[in-house]
Amino acid sequence: MHILEANGINAYYGTNHVLKNINLQIKPHTITAFIGPSGCGKSTFLRMFNRMNDYIDGFRKEGEIIIEGNEIYNKQVRVEDLRKQVGMVFQKPNPFPKTIFENVVYGLTIRGEKDKKKLNEIAERSLRQAVLWDEVKDSLKKSALALSGGQQQRLCIARALAVEPSIILMDEPASSLDPISTAKIEELILQLKEKYSIVIVTHNMQQAGRISDNTAFFYMGELIEYDETSIIFTSPKHDKTQSYVTGRFG
Ligand SMILES: Nc1ncnc2c1ncn2[C@@H]1O[C@H](COP(=O)(O)OP(=O)(O)OP(=O)(O)O)[C@@H](O)[C@H]1O
Ligand SMILES: [Mg+2]
Repeated sequence: MHILEANGINAYYGTNHVLKNINLQIKPHTITAFIGPSGCGKSTFLRMFNRMNDYIDGFRKEGEIIIEGNEIYNKQVRVEDLRKQVGMVFQKPNPFPKTIFENVVYGLTIRGEKDKKKLNEIAERSLRQAVLWDEVKDSLKKSALALSGGQQQRLCIARALAVEPSIILMDEPASSLDPISTAKIEELILQLKEKYSIVIVTHNMQQAGRISDNTAFFYMGELIEYDETSIIFTSPKHDKTQSYVTGRFG
């Protein structure tokens, strides 16, 4: 059983055809890495999984994306519900100018949750899962903007976890962080696999190798090769994959 299936995906920005007949399946509780040169369509594809492209002028798609059995572009699907099911963490940490506590429970309070005890429990649980609790437990009422970049990124992960998604999308989540914060985020992603399915875009080949189970290599809008990460990095079937993972282009 797959948690996510993309079938025959084509995507366009105006006349620019940026994703070309992509088919891909993702198993639950796995980490999938998307790699490939700049502009090959990784972010566009990732953003389709929670319909983040819907409001981009001129964006158009063909094909279907099925998440936990439902075609997410079906008219019956409410985008708010989809975003709860499929969380997202961006390249740059983007905490709101609010307290740490308010940031974590934001997804619940905007849905009208007022039960203080429940919010406290969820905040603690999410911050523990994001391996941030010990660092912030005494400063939950302080501004999230006072945290370091690496802490802010873990806070954004906690905020995504608080609504209990089944899939977490991460678009280069560690690229703006120092090596120590990056190591923490990687360790965290590995732990999250027990409960979630994770799709991560990364330009860092070592990172893809360290944390992902499967890797998809994209080139100029095409999915060239998708396989177990160890195969992609040691014995890929396509020359282009081989060139890319050995650093000969991109
Ligand atoms: N909002 C947009 N409007 C128009 N074209 C876009 C938009 N976003 C991306 N594109 C185009 O779509 C193509 C794929 O871009 P995308 O951002 O998905 O690539 P990427 O693989 O994530 O690249 P990078 O590694 O640099 O982040 C590029 O040609 C890009 O110029
Ligand atoms: Mg991108």
